[in-house]
Amino acid sequence: MTKPSSAASPSAPPPPSDRPLDVVVLAAGAGTRMRSARSKMLHEVAGRPMVAWAVKAARDVGAREIVVVTGHGAEQVEAALVGSGVRFARQEQQLGTGHAFLMGARELRGDADVLVLYGDSPLLSADTLRAMLARHRAQHQALTVLTSDLPDATGYGRVVRGMGGEVERIVEQKAATPAELRITEFNSGVYLMDARAPELAAQISNDNAAHEYYLTDLLALYRQAGDQVAAFRIADPTEVMGANDRLQLAELGTLMRQRINTRHMYGGVTLLDPATTHIEDTVSIAADVVLEPGVVLRGQTQIEAGSRIGAYSVITDTYLEAAVSVKPHSVLEGAHVGEGSDVGPFARLRPGAVLDAGVHVGNFVEIKNSHLGRGVKAGHLAYLGDAQIGAESNIGAGTITANFDGVNKHRTQIGAGVFVGSNATLIAPLTLGDAAFVAGGSTVSQDVPEGAMAIGRGVQRNVDGWSARYWSKMRQKLPQKLPWLSAWLERQEKSGEN
Ligand code: UD1
Ligand code: MG
Repeated sequence: MTKPSSAASPSAPPPPSDRPLDVVVLAAGAGTRMRSARSKMLHEVAGRPMVAWAVKAARDVGAREIVVVTGHGAEQVEAALVGSGVRFARQEQQLGTGHAFLMGARELRGDADVLVLYGDSPLLSADTLRAMLARHRAQHQALTVLTSDLPDATGYGRVVRGMGGEVERIVEQKAATPAELRITEFNSGVYLMDARAPELAAQISNDNAAHEYYLTDLLALYRQAGDQVAAFRIADPTEVMGANDRLQLAELGTLMRQRINTRHMYGGVTLLDPATTHIEDTVSIAADVVLEPGVVLRGQTQIEAGSRIGAYSVITDTYLEAAVSVKPHSVLEGAHVGEGSDVGPFARLRPGAVLDAGVHVGNFVEIKNSHLGRGVKAGHLAYLGDAQIGAESNIGAGTITANFDGVNKHRTQIGAGVFVGSNATLIAPLTLGDAAFVAGGSTVSQDVPEGAMAIGRGVQRNVDGWSARYWSKMRQKLPQKLPWLSAWLERQEKSGEN
């Protein structure tokens, strides 16, 4: 808040820019054309329910109070927004936008500017809303409606202007004359109004063909009160597009992804194939990161400079330090990957996987809740769960930390510089001391001291001539398709006879 100027009398209203802003999100509509058991408002665009985009826009534009009007699927919608700091107003019957607004406005204190948003128009940007708010306040408007143009605005309310170009009213499709139907400027349904809006909305009637309470009637009510109404007319009509069916939902998704991808490309990120790259808006990516085709980045993922993400990798809530290489088809969730490490192809990092710098994780390696020290290598086919692995240790192919006894999880502690041979089963709880060796194929259930070698497997013996005796007995069953083996057996039998 800026200081009130000393010239202002104590009773004068605060200057416009100091007035708080409250937001009413209309989200009670049915959304029948979605053909869904889920509320339309909860269908996702770029990883976020549509109604949550409206709430985010409200926040980004500096809302004090946000009231979401719910009706159809109210419980679902409210549950999805719990914890986001919004309040709810129920509209039990969907009697129209004017009625919905009134339900929401009753929750407001009546001392603020009011912004109305729809819960199913996720593309509306905070930048546009800020510009609209700035104009609305600078020009001391009572009501500003957000409009745009479409060559064919069928279905929308049209903006009817007077001789001087001033906004007169909005006429709904159903009530429009043929001339009005040719108007390209349409009502987005977004309005900024002064603090009288809730009071005036109470006067809206349903005296029209549809017997609905039209929020658009507020224009006439403001004008009757002696005020002018204004339009904030934007060039890009897609910003106020809503989703009525799954086709439109997909279109909104594509537009939203394009917007997010564009932002990253201008920020210095290379997208080899933007059309197949899905980045949620919560993700942050430094310059000189390369994303190969089909990459999906979700949630609180953060990627530092110089990293490269291989094709068709899916990364959720993961922090990648600089110069990391994730090879194709890897799945990372809740992980931390240290500088210069490389992961994949076909690697899986699960929550709590922490890799220090220069770690190598190869194909078909799964890591969960484990810390791998600097320079650790786990190149192939391993499961590492609930493990601590010291720097420079090498984990052989096929190694498993047997961390689960059927009831509890146990930890495996591996020191630095340890060499675990291929196909070791490490039965937790277990500690391998620094620089220890585990012989390939061992099942290890006892701790190994520093510098020791553990071998835990059956002792091998070779039985000479066993194969020929076996196959002779099985001759009748020797598969026809094994001519080399049949000939070999014949030679063995002949040399045995001699
Ligand atoms: C409304 C506008 C129209 C505008 C269009 C833009 C009115 C009378 N008309 O028409 O001028 O061009 O939006 O999309 O306002 N909702 C409720 N409760 C209700 C009715 C609607 O919460 O009782 C919500 C819906 O969930 C939706 C929004 O309000 O988010 C708009 O409702 P919708 O029925 O789509 O309005 P339109 O008839 O399309
Ligand atoms: Mg509509």
